[in-house]
Amino acid sequence: MTTTLRTDQSHLSRIAVQMTSGGRGILAADESIKTMSARLEGEGIAASATSRRDYRELLLTAAGLSESVSGIILCDETFGQQLADGRDFPTAASQLGILPGIKVDTGTKPLPGQACALITEGLDGLGDRLASYAERGAAFAKWRAVFDVNTVTPYGARANGHALARYAALCQDHGIVPIVEPEVLCNGDHDLAASERASRMALGSLFDELDQAGVDLTGIVLKPNFVTPGLDATPVAATTVAATTFNVLRATVPAAVPGIAFLSGGHRTADVCAFLHELHEIPDRPWDVTFSFGRALVSAALHTWAGSPANVRAAQDVLLANCAEAASAAR
Ligand code: G3H
Repeated sequence: MTTTLRTDQSHLSRIAVQMTSGGRGILAADESIKTMSARLEGEGIAASATSRRDYRELLLTAAGLSESVSGIILCDETFGQQLADGRDFPTAASQLGILPGIKVDTGTKPLPGQACALITEGLDGLGDRLASYAERGAAFAKWRAVFDVNTVTPYGARANGHALARYAALCQDHGIVPIVEPEVLCNGDHDLAASERASRMALGSLFDELDQAGVDLTGIVLKPNFVTPGLDATPVAATTVAATTFNVLRATVPAAVPGIAFLSGGHRTADVCAFLHELHEIPDRPWDVTFSFGRALVSAALHTWAGSPANVRAAQDVLLANCAEAASAAR
C-alpha cells in the first residue's frame, strides 16, 4: 500500500524551518510505554494507558505552550489517544499551533558482532506506518540511534547512519520531515575529548549516509547531543561545551541543514539552557539552533503533578517555565 511520492521539497523545508526557528523548540513527549510507565511509577503514580494519556494531555494543553514550543513528539500510543474533550492528540496539537510529530523507531537491539553496540530497529513496514501517520496529521517524525562513547565503532556508526538515512528518505517520500537523532550518551565518567570523538564519528557517518540515500538536507532536522564530559566526570564551562559542540557540528553538518534541535540527555535544565545560550551566541552559525528536550522540560512537571488533578495547573506552570527558559536560550 506504500505509494512513494517524492513530495514538494519546499513543503518539507518550510516545516523544518518552522520547527527550529524563531526561538521555539520541540517538546519530546515520546517516551515508550515501558519508559513512561517506569517514570510514572517512579513518582508513585499507577501506570496505565489512562495515566499516560492524562499526563500527555497535561503537557499539551498547558496554556500558551506554543509561545515557546513549535512541535511535540508523541509515541504511537498517544498519537492514537483522545483528550478529555474527544479531540485526538494530533488534531488538538495542530489547533493549539503546535506541529504533531511521531516517534517511529521501535527501539534498540544489540548489534551482532559488535561488543555492546546497539542498532535501532523499525524499518520493516515503515512506509505503510508513515502513510498512516501522515494521513492522521503527522508533520514530522523521529528516529533515535544510540551510541556509547566506550563502544562506538566506525561500523556501528555506519550501520545506524544507514538506518537513519533509509528512515529519513522514506519520511520525505511521505511528506514528513525526519528528525534524525544520533545520540551519543552522556552517562559515565568519560572526558570531553571522548565525547567529541564519538560525536564526530556518529555525525560523520550519518551525513555520508544521508547523502548517499539522496535525502534532501533542507527538509530534515538534526537532533544531536551537546558534546560534554560524562555526567559523572568533572564538568566544563558552558562556553567550552558550546565551542566544542560547534566545532564538531561545523566539521560534519552541511550548511544546507536548516535547524539543529538538541536533546537534553540527562543534564540539568539550567545546564542545557546555558549550553544552548552559549551556542546561540556563536557568530556565523550556518544553522538555527534550538531545543528538543525531554527530561529537562518535563521531569519537574511530572513530579509536581504526582497523578493528582488538583496539581495539573501547578505542573503546567513548571513545564511552561522550563520551556520559556529553553526558548529564551534560543533567541
Ligand atoms: O530521544 C530522546 C528524547 O527525544 C530527548 O530526551 O532530552 O530527555 O534526553 P532527553
